[in-house]
Parts: sequence; structure tokens; C-alpha cells
Amino acid sequence: MEMDYTVPVIAGDGVGPEIIAEGKKVIEAAARREEFQVTWIDFPHGTEHYLKTGETLSHQALEELGKYRAIYMGSLGDPRVPAGVVEMGIILKTRFYFDQYVNLRPVKLLEGVDTPLKDKGPKDIDFVVIRENTEDFYIGLGHRVKRGKNHVLLDLQRQEYRARFDIDVETSSEEIGFHLGIISKEGARRIIQYGFELARKKGKNKVTCLDKANVLASMYNFWREVAEEVAQGYPEIQLEIMLADAATMWFVKNPERFQVVVAPNLFGDIVTDLGAMIAGGLGMAPGGNINPEGTSMFEPIHGSAPKYAGQNRANPIATIWSGALMLDFLGETKAADRIVWAIEQTVMEKKVLTPDLGGTAGTRDVGDEIARKVAG
Ligand code: IPM
Ligand code: MG
Repeated sequence: MEMDYTVPVIAGDGVGPEIIAEGKKVIEAAARREEFQVTWIDFPHGTEHYLKTGETLSHQALEELGKYRAIYMGSLGDPRVPAGVVEMGIILKTRFYFDQYVNLRPVKLLEGVDTPLKDKGPKDIDFVVIRENTEDFYIGLGHRVKRGKNHVLLDLQRQEYRARFDIDVETSSEEIGFHLGIISKEGARRIIQYGFELARKKGKNKVTCLDKANVLASMYNFWREVAEEVAQGYPEIQLEIMLADAATMWFVKNPERFQVVVAPNLFGDIVTDLGAMIAGGLGMAPGGNINPEGTSMFEPIHGSAPKYAGQNRANPIATIWSGALMLDFLGETKAADRIVWAIEQTVMEKKVLTPDLGGTAGTRDVGDEIARKVAG
């Protein structure tokens, strides 16, 4: 029986709609070739929708999205609203609501793509970062206090504070901001185990686990203990413990030492931008937000690049590649491999590339070229 996948799409802001259009095009080409069906459901969510309705992503929208196994997302963020509104209101809300605890981010330099690392090539830069995606400093447990009267009235409802801050403290040096990070035993276990399982599945023999146990000891000694515990179940795989700051050095100096890297949320966020750069730039970096038993979401790791919106200039490869990760998740591995192969061919030929990769082609040309190769 021919499979028919219904996939909700949030194209989002900036270059989002353009890159998603190319992603859909390529996935459709793969579907025709491998004989399955894809039906898209376009969701309007993003900054424009927020400005019109005041809603980022409603509970109702989340429930609707939750009927499907995979969501395809473009990019979010727009200077018309303060930083964080749509990022937190849509991207993080989706990750958290669906408990997409695995953020899978391949760092793979394709043949034909330049890396800024001297003397390094595709055989040296080929690993995957498994970023924990639901805990750490991302849980939203933070506040600003002693902030001056207007804000204090908003933040703190208690009369005594109001009285105190009615004195003009707009420029108070007493202001405090804080965020708390948490790591739970189960949260650490499931992500580290996912990393080891992936290593086993791919025949790798090392998992590198990042932390900062030398300073944030309570949190990361705990994480480290869980890593050591999990590693015992995988005697054929070496556990390498690495401090997150040192990891940024090794990503640059010796990327070939990495196979599977598991990182807590915030460190994972940071090292994957670095990973993207050594693998050819943000235009090349795909990502998946995975709940193995639930609804997952696939998006490029780059932002919405508002200044390039509508210019047919953005590199769609990260989004197309994210589409391949999505097909892989859905079980269409042949189609997924075919797309990655077509991306590889396209960058190797260097004929149809966007300006970030040194070419002169447009977003649509790159999508057309990859789709044509996928079709074969
Ligand atoms: C990423 C982004 C997001 C994050 C932002 C946009 C919320 O930087 O996907 O890496 O911090 O996770
Ligand atoms: Mg990031």
C-alpha cells in the first residue's frame, strides 16, 4: 500500500516561506520517485499572524499539529516584534509541548563545500550533535526584579513592593535578572541514551558528552554521573567526557575526533552554530526536533534572515536537508538518502549555488536543481 503522509507546515517569517517552498518541491520529487504521497497543511503562524491576531501558537493549533507525526518548519523571527516573542511562542513552544527532547543536528561537511578550517575536509568533519531540547536554562524559569516602577507593577503584584518601588528607581542599580537551569535524571538519561543508541546503530565507537562540571558542579556532576551510568550499558562504545568550552576548541582544532556529541540544551545551542560554520555555514545546517514516540518537528538551524526576505537569495539547502531528516524519521529512508545525495551532487558540481556558497543562483534555482536530481 502506498503511504500517505500528512505534514503540517509552518513556513514562518523572513526567508521562511521561500526556503520551505523549495523543501516541499524536493520532498514531492522524492515522493514521486519512491511512490508515496505527501499532503501539506499550511499553518499561518509567524510574526504576521501574531501582529494580526495577538496569537503566537494557540492551544488549539498545537492540538491540531499533534494529530501528525512530523511538522515541517521554516524560520521565525522578525524585527517588528521584540526578540523572543515568536522564537519562544512558536519554536520553543512546539519543542516543549510535544516533548521533542532530541535536537538532532548533523555536522557534516559535504564534498565541494568549503570549510574555514585549514587542512580539514569532508572526512574530518562528519559527526552529529544530539542536543537536549527540553531542560537546562530553556525552561523559562527566570525573572527581572527591582526593575523600576512601571515594570515592577507588572512583575510584582504585591502592595509592599509597589510602595517601595514607587520611589523613582528607573535607573536603579539594584536591578536583578536571573534564570534557573534544571537537569532531571530522566531528562539526562533519555537524551544520553538516545546518543548511545544512535552511536550503536551507526556503528560508532565513541560518544562525547559535554558539561561544565568544573564550575556548575551540582548540575553537571549529576549529568556526568548519569552519562557514566548509561555508558555501562554500551561496553563497545567509549564515553568521552568533555567540558563545553574545551569542546568549542576541539571542534575547530580536531573535528575528526567527534562521532556523536551529546550536549545539554544551552551548550548544544552554542556548539551547533559553531558546528554549522565548520560544515559550510548556517545555510547548510539541518535539524530535527524529535520525540521518538510523538510529534516531531524539522527545521533548519538558521534564523529568518529578514533582510533577505523575498529576494530569492537565501540558501534552501538547510531546509531541504531538514526535509530529508523528516523523511528518515517517517521511515522513508530511501527518499531521505536520495535527497542528501542530490544535495551532495549539487554542491559538488558548483553550478547552481546561492551567494553564500559562492554561486549566483537563486533560492528557486537550487530547489529546482536538487528536485531534478532527486527525480533522476
Ligand atoms: C536554535 C535557535 C533557537 C534556540 C532560538 C531561536 C529559540 O537558536 O534553534 O538553535 O535557542 O534553540
Ligand atoms: Mg541556536
